[in-house]
Amino acid sequence: MTTIPERVFSGVQPTGNLHLGNYLGAIKKFVALQESHDCIYCVVDLHAITVWQDPAELQQNIREVTAAFIASGIDPTKHIVFNQSQVSEHAELAWVFNCVARMGWLSRMTQFKEKAGKDREKASVGLFSYPTLMASDILTYRATHVPVGEDQKQHLELTRDIAQKFNNDYSDRIAQLDLGVPMQVGDEHVNGYFPLTEPIIGGPAARVMSLRDGTKKMSKSDPSDLSRIVMTDDADTIAKKFKKAKTDPDALPSEIEGLKDRPEADNLVGLYAALSDTDKASVLGEFGGAQFGTFKPALADLAVDRIGPIANEMRRLMDDHTHIDAILADGSEQARAIARKTLADTKEIVGFIGAR
Ligand code: TRP
Repeated sequence: MTTIPERVFSGVQPTGNLHLGNYLGAIKKFVALQESHDCIYCVVDLHAITVWQDPAELQQNIREVTAAFIASGIDPTKHIVFNQSQVSEHAELAWVFNCVARMGWLSRMTQFKEKAGKDREKASVGLFSYPTLMASDILTYRATHVPVGEDQKQHLELTRDIAQKFNNDYSDRIAQLDLGVPMQVGDEHVNGYFPLTEPIIGGPAARVMSLRDGTKKMSKSDPSDLSRIVMTDDADTIAKKFKKAKTDPDALPSEIEGLKDRPEADNLVGLYAALSDTDKASVLGEFGGAQFGTFKPALADLAVDRIGPIANEMRRLMDDHTHIDAILADGSEQARAIARKTLADTKEIVGFIGAR
């Protein structure tokens, strides 16, 4: 609980192969939140280079994510859309947070363990400190809500831990400078500078799974192209991928309980629900008893219907570099205006000289 005005922030990495999981788990929610909140949506290019990115592909991918935002319905005239590297305050605040966060906290991050693999000595230092930069993205704007996929929950907890430790370590100084905002931490009412940000997670497609293995997340980096629907797939490719999607031999159940221990069936039903803006129960109400031979083509048609127009618009936008780059430049300028103030406050709180 905080009395800081509500603000939404989220980020998507420009690492290629933007897929249905990114769309349903994140971007579609970003679009909906525009109605109720001030939103800031960021293409997190600084995060992308925590693992190697070819420079030309990186540029292409930054434009692709931006195009996906706009084509999906994010309105850059009402909300802020920009790329992280144009607002250097993110990296600056991340440095302060590197000095707030503890090695032990970061060592427990499951995403780091997964991405670093067995040979941790070879992982970049950036990959290790990735979550402090993410905390900085969010807290540069003192955002209160962050729509993300399930897998980012732990990073949001760490963001709260960093905010809380900062507020606590510098509480006297924050009070002295009169920069505190009342907020509730547990049962306690305290004054802090950074809010304790809440994740927004959920919906039928909070976790979109691989089409080849219902126990694994749909991923940009899965070696099998058949495992994911990418945003720019054409209708035939989408149909083919759903046709080849792994399933079990049984018909669809009529009740949600019947999806238990059937990860592939559960995933496809969740996808149908998310794409048609309903829930799994109503999808099963319609398709209970149907075989996958019937359900898969219906799902493919629905996906083509929902994704096709977005993909067309994405292609059109991506061909127009001047337009896309201007959106990012403009958004970055707006973001910077907010970020500057937070950085100046933070430097003052920490005890640097010359910040304001
Ligand atoms: N780590 C996020 C992901 O991989 C991307 C991200 C970076 C992000 N900074 C963020 C998401 C800030 C939300 C808020 O999906």
